[in-house]
Amino acid sequence: MKHIFENNKNWVEEKLNQDPDFFKNLSKGQKPDILYIGCSDSRVTAEELMGVSAGEVFVHRNIANMVPNTDLSAMSVIDYAVLHLKVNHVVICGHYNCGGVKAAMQSQDLGILNPWLRNIRDVYRMHNEELNAIKDEEQRYNRLVELNVQEQCINVIKTAEVQRAFRDRGITVHGWVFDLHTGKLIDLKIDFNKILENVMEIYRLD
Ligand code: CO
Repeated sequence: MKHIFENNKNWVEEKLNQDPDFFKNLSKGQKPDILYIGCSDSRVTAEELMGVSAGEVFVHRNIANMVPNTDLSAMSVIDYAVLHLKVNHVVICGHYNCGGVKAAMQSQDLGILNPWLRNIRDVYRMHNEELNAIKDEEQRYNRLVELNVQEQCINVIKTAEVQRAFRDRGITVHGWVFDLHTGKLIDLKIDFNKILENVMEIYRLD
């Protein structure tokens, strides 16, 4: 752990060299424009891969970048970011080679992880036909990662906060995948307006 405190000391020096008011400004408050919901995977570093600085992105990470409807933590993050910080973009960022998604594709009993992974199994069930038609296991796995991102975007759009923020200021939800093999960020170009239209038919909250 010692090297971490060394790193921190160097980082403070570096920041102060670049801008003597860096921490003074940082302590004044935050006004991020983006809420990023990603996987806890140690290889998918939110800020580093996006090249953003402190204060630019509000971050929530959990296993397999999930947004379960009843998860108090994820729902509180969305509520705070959308209502109070007034972010204009919500990003769900999945990644290929996701251990959480892989575990959900197997039938192993993983204890406390079972109910969490069941949310991903639900995604599989919803897209059963498309996924089972993919013969190559690696490709099927990658596709489930993408479909999981899409379904979590839908869960975000289902929330009252996001529907209201869309009406009031045109908030947008984005689905991305990080490719560990290349380091590239891929925009899945989720059709936000179409999803919203479908969602509003059933989940509309005035
Ligand atoms: Co992951």
